[in-house]
Amino acid sequence: MGKGLYLFMSLQFILPFKILLAAQSPLPPPQLWCHDDERSALLEFKGSLVLRYPDFDTCFNSWRPEGEARNCCSWEGVECGGPHNHVIGLNLIQCGGDPYSSINSNSSIFRLVHLQKLNLNSFDLNYSSIPTSLGNLQSLRELTLSRCNLQGMIPPSISNLTKLVTLDLTFNSLRGPILPFISNLTHLVTLELAYNQFTGEILPSLGNLIRLTGLDLRLNQFTGEIPTQIASLTHLQRLGLSFNKLHGTIPASLSELQSLTYLFLRSNNLSGTVQLDMFSEMEHLEQLILSFNNFSLAIGPNGSDSLKNVQILGLAQCNLSEFPEFLEKLDNLFQLDLSYNNLSGQIPEWFLNTTLQTLAYLNLSRNSLTSFPRDLFYYNATYLQSLDLRFNKLQGSLPIPPKQIGYYLVSDNMLSGELSPLLCDWKYVSLLDLSKNNFTGELPQCLSSLSENLVMLTLHSNNFHGRIPLFGSNTSTCALEMIDLSNNQLQGPLPRSLSNCSELTFLNVGSNRIHDTFPSWLGSLSGLRVLILQSNKFHGGIEKPKRDPGFPKLQIIDLSYNNFQLSLPSLYFQSWRHMGVSSPERNYYLSGYNGPFGIFQGFEYSSYDFSMTIINKGVEMEYEKIFGYFKVVDLSSNNFTGEIPDSIASLDGLHLLNLSNNMLIGSVSPSMAALMQLESLDLSQNELLGDIPLQLTQLTFLAFFNVSYNNLSGPIPRGKQFDSFQSNSYLGNEGLCGDPLSRKCGSPPQPPPPNSAENDEGSDATFEIEWKAVAAGYAGSFIVAAAVGHKIITKQPGWFAQTFGLRQHRRRT
Ligand SMILES: *[C@@H]1O[C@H](CO)[C@@H](O)[C@H](O)[C@H]1NC(C)=O
Ligand SMILES: *[C@@H]1O[C@H](CO)[C@@H](O)[C@H](O)[C@H]1NC(C)=O
Ligand SMILES: *[C@@H]1O[C@H](CO)[C@@H](O)[C@H](O)[C@H]1NC(C)=O
Ligand SMILES: *[C@@H]1O[C@H](CO)[C@@H](O)[C@H](O)[C@H]1NC(C)=O
Ligand SMILES: *[C@@H]1O[C@H](CO)[C@@H](O)[C@H](O)[C@H]1NC(C)=O
Ligand SMILES: *[C@@H]1O[C@H](CO)[C@@H](O)[C@H](O)[C@H]1NC(C)=O
Ligand SMILES: *[C@@H]1O[C@H](CO)[C@@H](O)[C@H](O)[C@H]1NC(C)=O
Ligand SMILES: *[C@@H]1O[C@H](CO)[C@@H](O)[C@H](O)[C@H]1NC(C)=O
Ligand SMILES: *[C@@H]1O[C@H](CO)[C@@H](O)[C@H](O)[C@H]1NC(C)=O
Ligand SMILES: *[C@@H]1O[C@H](CO)[C@@H](O)[C@H](O)[C@H]1NC(C)=O
Ligand SMILES: *[C@@H]1O[C@H](CO)[C@@H](O)[C@H](O)[C@H]1NC(C)=O
Ligand SMILES: *[C@@H]1O[C@H](CO)[C@@H](O)[C@H](O)[C@H]1NC(C)=O
Repeated sequence: MGKGLYLFMSLQFILPFKILLAAQSPLPPPQLWCHDDERSALLEFKGSLVLRYPDFDTCFNSWRPEGEARNCCSWEGVECGGPHNHVIGLNLIQCGGDPYSSINSNSSIFRLVHLQKLNLNSFDLNYSSIPTSLGNLQSLRELTLSRCNLQGMIPPSISNLTKLVTLDLTFNSLRGPILPFISNLTHLVTLELAYNQFTGEILPSLGNLIRLTGLDLRLNQFTGEIPTQIASLTHLQRLGLSFNKLHGTIPASLSELQSLTYLFLRSNNLSGTVQLDMFSEMEHLEQLILSFNNFSLAIGPNGSDSLKNVQILGLAQCNLSEFPEFLEKLDNLFQLDLSYNNLSGQIPEWFLNTTLQTLAYLNLSRNSLTSFPRDLFYYNATYLQSLDLRFNKLQGSLPIPPKQIGYYLVSDNMLSGELSPLLCDWKYVSLLDLSKNNFTGELPQCLSSLSENLVMLTLHSNNFHGRIPLFGSNTSTCALEMIDLSNNQLQGPLPRSLSNCSELTFLNVGSNRIHDTFPSWLGSLSGLRVLILQSNKFHGGIEKPKRDPGFPKLQIIDLSYNNFQLSLPSLYFQSWRHMGVSSPERNYYLSGYNGPFGIFQGFEYSSYDFSMTIINKGVEMEYEKIFGYFKVVDLSSNNFTGEIPDSIASLDGLHLLNLSNNMLIGSVSPSMAALMQLESLDLSQNELLGDIPLQLTQLTFLAFFNVSYNNLSGPIPRGKQFDSFQSNSYLGNEGLCGDPLSRKCGSPPQPPPPNSAENDEGSDATFEIEWKAVAAGYAGSFIVAAAVGHKIITKQPGWFAQTFGLRQHRRRT
C-alpha cells in the first residue's frame, strides 16, 4: 500500500517534467542519444530477424538507422540509462509481427554488455542453444527467455552473471543436468526452470541461493530425492517440483519453509507416510498440491490448525479412506481434489454442510462413493461450479447440483432413472458428462435450450430412448463442439437444427435406432472432424455434396452397419480435403478446455479429451484420445454397390479404410496404392474380381489387410508388408494362389473345407494378437505412436463372432 502510493507520487512528479522536455525541443539533449556501437548492434539484430507477419506494425519499424529516428534510446522495446546512457534494457515481448531468429555466440545482442534486463519472452529463437557469449552480459539482473524455442544445455558461462536476480527459462526444450555453477548466482530471487527437459538430481547446493523466494522446477525429468538443503531457503514463497521423477520421502526439514504460499509436489514418486502436521507451521500456505505420488497422508491431531488459509488443496491419490475431518475448518478452501483415493460409501453430511459451502471446484472421482445423504441441491453449494464424480459407485437418480454449475461429470457410475427436467435450469453448464450409467427414459427436450453455453455433451452408453432434442434450434448461438449420444436407443431423424451448431467438431450418434438419410446438410459445418453414425437405420444413397467442399475438416467418418445403398460416395472422397496427406497435426488432439478439471494453478491442469470407440478388424477399440492426424473411413456393412472409384486416391492421408461387407464389384484399383499412410485395409466380403494389384506392396505401414470372401484370383503379391499377412486375409477367394495359402499357383482350385467360415470367426482373437505384433514392428506408424501417446483399450466383444455371420449382409434389425 505504502509502496504503491510512493510510486504514484513519484510518477506525478516526473511526468510534467518529461512533457516539458518534449515540448521545448524536438531532439533530446546529446547525453540522451544512444551509442553508435549499441545502435549498430541492435540494427544488426533486427537484420537477423525474419517476421512471419511482415506487414504487421511491429516495434522494429521504429528501429531505423537514419535521421532523428536513429536515436536507439527512443526505439520501442529499448531502454537506456545509467550515467552514460547505455542500452540497459531490451524488452521485445510486445513486438508484433511474430519475429523469429536463430542466435549464436556472434549474435550482436551479446555486444550490449550494459544490459541489465533482457526479456525475450515468446520470441522464437528457432531452436538455438543458449550461446556461451551470454556470459558477456555481466550486468544482467533480469533474464527472461521463456517460450523462446531454446534447446540444448545451459552454458557454464551463465555463472558469470553474478548479479542475476531473476532467471526465467521456462517453456523451452532445455535439457541436461543443472550444473553446480548455478548455485554461484547467489543474488537470485527467482529461478524459473519449469517446463523443460532437465535431468539429473536437484543439487543440494541450490540451498546456497538463500535469497530465493521462487523456485519452480516443475515439468522436467529431475530424479533423486528432494535435498534436505532446500530447507535453507527460508524466504521461499513458491516451491514447484511437480511432474518430475523424484522419489524418497518428503524431507521433514521442509517444514522449516514457513514463508511458503505455494507448494506443488504433484506427480512424482514420493513415498512413505506424509504427516500433514509437517505443514502446520506454514501459516501463509494458500495452495498445497500433494496429488499423484506414492505416499499415504497421515492426518495428526494438529494438522488442521495450519492450513487455515489454504484455498487450493490437491490430495488425489493420497491413500485416504475417509474424508479428512480437518477439511471442516478450512474456511477459505475453494478448490479441492480428493480423486483417486479409497473413499467409500455415503458422502458424510458434515462435509456437505461445511466444506462444500465454500468450494467452487470439487473432484471426488475415482473413489467408491455410493450416495449422498440427501438430495445434493439441499446443500445449496452456492459457489460450486465444477463437480467431478466420475468412476464411483453412485446409485439412484442423478444428483442435482445447483443452478450455477458449469462442469458436471458423473460418468461411470450406476445411476438410473429418468433425467429430471431440473437440469434444464443449468443455464451455465458447458460440460455435461452423464455417460456410462443406466439412465432411462426420454431425453428432456428442454436440453436443447442449454446449447447457448453447452460446449460438450456426452450421454453415451445409457438406455435413453425417444427423439434427440433439437439442439441449436431455440437459442441465438449454439456453442456445442462435441455431442456423444452413442449407445442408447434414440429414435427418429437427426435434428436438422444441428446445422446451426457451427462450432461442432465431434458428433457421435452410433449404436442407436436413428432412421434417416445421409446428413449431407451437416457438410456446411466447416469444423466438423468426427462423424460417427454407425449401427443405426440410416439408409438411401449418398449423393453428391450439397455444397463444395462438404465436410472440409472431416478426419473420421464411420457409417458402418447401416443400410446405405447405391454407389460409394466418390464425390465426397474429393471433398473431404482434410483426409489428404497434408496437415499432419502431430501433437494436436481433440479435447475440451484445459483447466477446470484439475487443479489449475499454472499448468497443473488436465483436459477433457474427446474419446470414441470404433470397431475395427472385428475388434472394438476405444480411443481415449483422438489425435488430429488420425484419419478413418469406415463404410463397411452397408449395401454399397458398384466399383471402388479412383477418387479414393484423394484420401491419401487415411490410416484405416474399411469397405468390407458391401456388394462392391469390379477390381481392386491399383490407385489404392496412393493411400500411403494406410495401416488397415479391409475389403473383405464383397464381390471384387481380378488380381490383388502388385502396387499395394508399396503400402509400407499396412499392418492389417483383409480381402477374404471376394472373387479375387491370381497370385498373392509378396514382399514387404505382404510377407506378414496370414491366410485368413485371403480365405474364400477360390482363384487366389501362392503363399500364405496352401494352394500353389498353377494348381487347380480346391473345394473349400467344410465350416471354413466358422473356423475363421473363431480366430478373431488371434487376429488381434497378430495385428498388435505386426504393428509393433513399424515405428512411426499411428498405432505405435498412439500406444505411446495415449491409451487404446482393446476389447474382443463376445457378441461379434456370434452376431455377425460372415456372408450375411444385414446385421441388425
Ligand atoms: C532457423 O533454423 C534453420 C535450421 O537451423 C535455419 O535453416 C534457418 O535459417 C533459421 N532461420 C532463421 C530466421 O534464423
Ligand atoms: C563467429 O564469428 C567468427 C569470426 O567471425 C567465426 O569464425 C565463427 O565461425 C562464428 N561462429 C558462429 C557460431 O557463427
Ligand atoms: C565472463 O565475462 C568476462 C568479461 O566479459 C569474459 O572475459 C569471460 O570470458 C566471461 N566468462 C565466461 C565463462 O563467459
Ligand atoms: C562458482 O563456485 C564454485 C564453487 O562453488 C567456484 O569454484 C567457482 O570459481 C565459481 N565460479 C564463478 C564464475 O564464480
Ligand atoms: C518409485 O520409487 C520406488 C522406490 O522408492 C521404486 O521402486 C519404483 O520403481 C519407482 N516407481 C517409478 C514409477 O518410478
Ligand atoms: C511405491 O513405493 C513402494 C515402496 O516405497 C514401491 O515398492 C512401489 O513400486 C512404488 N509404486 C510405484 C507405482 O512406484
Ligand atoms: C495405503 O493405506 C493402507 C492402509 O490404509 C496401507 O496398508 C497401504 O500400504 C497404503 N499404501 C501406500 C502406497 O502407502
Ligand atoms: C499438537 O498441538 C499440541 C498443543 O498445541 C502440542 O502439544 C503437540 O506437540 C502438537 N503435536 C504435534 C504432532 O505437532
Ligand atoms: C447438516 O445440516 C442440516 C441442516 O442445516 C442439519 O439438519 C444436519 O444435522 C447437519 N448435519 C451434520 C452432520 O452436521
Ligand atoms: C439452503 O438454503 C435454504 C434457503 O436459504 C436454507 O433454508 C437451508 O437451510 C440451506 N441448507 C443448508 C444445508 O445450508
Ligand atoms: C439398468 O436398469 C435396468 C432396469 O431399468 C435393469 O434391468 C438393469 O439391470 C440395469 N443395469 C445395470 C448395469 O445396473
Ligand atoms: C441392396 O441394394 C440392392 C440394389 O440397390 C437392392 O436390390 C437390395 O434390396 C438391397 N438390399 C438390402 C438388404 O437393402
